[in-house]
Amino acid sequence: MKKIADYDTYNYDYSTYWKKREYEHISEEILLKNLFAKLKGQWFLDIGGSFGRLTDSYYNNYSNPVIVDYSLKTLQKNSKDLKKRFPRIELIAANAYNLPFKERTFDGALMVRVLHHIDRPKDCLTQIYRILTPNGKYIQEYANKVHIKAVIRALIHFDLSIFNTTPYQQPDKHHYEGTKEGSKVLFLNYHPKYISDMFNKIGLRIDKKYGCSFLRSAFLKQTFKTEALLSIEKLLQKTLSWSNISPSIFLRATAIKEEQEIKSAKNILDICVCPVCKERLSFEGNSAKCDKCKTQYYKKEDIWDFRV
Ligand SMILES: C[S@@+](CC[C@H](N)C(=O)[O-])C[C@H]1O[C@@H](n2cnc3c(N)ncnc32)[C@H](O)[C@@H]1O
Ligand SMILES: [Zn+2]
Repeated sequence: MKKIADYDTYNYDYSTYWKKREYEHISEEILLKNLFAKLKGQWFLDIGGSFGRLTDSYYNNYSNPVIVDYSLKTLQKNSKDLKKRFPRIELIAANAYNLPFKERTFDGALMVRVLHHIDRPKDCLTQIYRILTPNGKYIQEYANKVHIKAVIRALIHFDLSIFNTTPYQQPDKHHYEGTKEGSKVLFLNYHPKYISDMFNKIGLRIDKKYGCSFLRSAFLKQTFKTEALLSIEKLLQKTLSWSNISPSIFLRATAIKEEQEIKSAKNILDICVCPVCKERLSFEGNSAKCDKCKTQYYKKEDIWDFRV
């Protein structure tokens, strides 16, 4: 199985995934509206932000929002439309394991529905911690290994491995996200304790946990109207977020690090560094060269490609 979920291999159009998932989409929007209510700042990074499904939830809270995604094709395809809807948005193609940004830059960052494609979460989160400012806010969504349906299913099969904290690779059946039918893709569900231990070790203090998509079930979605499910969802987000029963969990965390004076940058090129060695880049037209390792990067159809 490939170690990076490269949506470009089969020209996967992620927006099609959302055609029949109105309940899940609005559930996430409701949760994020609440979560972002008191957050604001300058630079903001949506990691694996794709076609900007969630950009509405943070755009007005930050003066310099950036979407970073491994899928160059998705960014190229959606760039015009995104910039029309969100004129201040910047799009960068890069790998979440090797973020091409200066340390201590982002006042906020978000990762939704991406961690299941990341099999070295500690390496990836260490990078994210690096680019956050002291007290920067980080919002993490992950697929929950011990949601209520998974626990019931495991108990019926006397499978006690559900309770250990090892990440769980979903069976290939029905998980072609980012690829084509029949191809394997990383799709990991994480145990809440595994995630919280890792956050603590890295220096990301978890401030609050939220459950989401409590009613994700084909039967419920066929039987009840979306509006009815969403009314209950709102109530469950308020009352049951302490539990681990929902299939999706969101965390709001703070990057704990020593304060240092930071020069604030205004331009996206001022915050970009070489994704390999994190040294300065020299830009010339549509190309950039690392001052140290000399790796060359290019702007392709309006999008800088820093994928390594
Ligand atoms: C399931 S989509 C989620 C998109 C968006 N966050 C949302 O919730 O609508 C996963 C996205 O993560 C991106 N992705 C996967 N692995 C990545 C990596 N290592 N670095 C950057 N982006 C990655 C994919 O290209 C894809 O756009
Ligand atoms: Zn370099």
